[in-house]
Amino acid sequence: MPTRQKWSAEHMNILVTGGAGYVGSHVVEELLKTGKHQIVTLDNLQKGHPEAVLGGEFIKGDLTDTKLLDEIFREHAIEAVVHLAADSLVGESVEHPGKYFHNNLVNGLNLLNAMVRHDAKYIVFSSTAAVYGEPVRTPIDEDHPHVPTNPYGESKLFFEKIMARYEHAYGLGHISLRYFNAAGASQSGAIGEDHRPETHLIPIVLEVALGQREHVAIFGTDYDTPDGTCIRDYVHVTDLANAHLLALDALASGAPSTAYNLGNGEGFSVREVIDMVEQVVGRSLPQVEGTRRAGDPAVLVASSRRIMEELGWQPRYHDLKTIVQTAWDWHKRRPHGFGE
Ligand code: UFG
Repeated sequence: MPTRQKWSAEHMNILVTGGAGYVGSHVVEELLKTGKHQIVTLDNLQKGHPEAVLGGEFIKGDLTDTKLLDEIFREHAIEAVVHLAADSLVGESVEHPGKYFHNNLVNGLNLLNAMVRHDAKYIVFSSTAAVYGEPVRTPIDEDHPHVPTNPYGESKLFFEKIMARYEHAYGLGHISLRYFNAAGASQSGAIGEDHRPETHLIPIVLEVALGQREHVAIFGTDYDTPDGTCIRDYVHVTDLANAHLLALDALASGAPSTAYNLGNGEGFSVREVIDMVEQVVGRSLPQVEGTRRAGDPAVLVASSRRIMEELGWQPRYHDLKTIVQTAWDWHKRRPHGFGE
């Protein structure tokens, strides 16, 4: 295996793919705060918002464009990549698996091959709890069996495996960050969650609070959990973002390639989340009990001990109230999201 050179983590030329998206824009914001790095964001704006990119250079473009990738790597002397560009809806992936395998794998390979051509050595990859599938134990650690139950999770797991092969062949250093439920918004007030269509629980309940939806539907009340609704591990998007910085620094200092879970280690049911939103907005919100959504495991809670111990990750916004409050502040400020 080629030996990996140790870089100084002091300064890097970093490409962030998907940096105009929800998690990506928070990664760019945290990278900018360090004042250390040269940042180039690449996003095709299918889901992302140009306004969400708070600095560095922004390039509208796609991973299908290998000529553009060559130009970016050459002109910016890219050394490291944070790769978030992907399709990420579980339900859609079940209906359109080809879309997911094509975008998340074929287009992702274009990126890896450009890294090899231009000798960029490090990649931090946006992965997901969906690589584990239906949990056989909880909390889920990184060694939990990997049996994804949908094409989205499968595409992310395959990409992790591809990176390991590229390390063996070309010395690519990689860290995969397996997010649990990203939530909340930057305390700067400048960026937040704006998915169209929105499918995630917290922003949906906030849209009810803003009068943009009539009610929130609870997807299933007959799960084997204390109140019958699904339990998830919500983690603040700025805490997620900071894990990417730690991972980049670790790779640049010669740390081995690996995968880390990112969650707070505490689960909240759908009903508890709705209760918390009601507490934060100060009134009760209409809700209806619906049927289960296909593919939802009853409980997904992370053990993030590995990244805490190995990289010193410490979530700063770990309590659900703060997470919901930051999301509410953003939604109040930008009730129609970016660009409006
Ligand atoms: N939910 C509702 N009503 C809604 C929306 C969601 O009851 O209107 C429930 C869901 O059934 C689930 C919980 O709220 O139990 C959270 O749902 P989200 O859609 O907010 O998030 P998921 O847990 O489905 O998705 C997250 C990540 C995905 C990842 C997945 C792994 O966003 O990227 O976990 O299972 F793939």
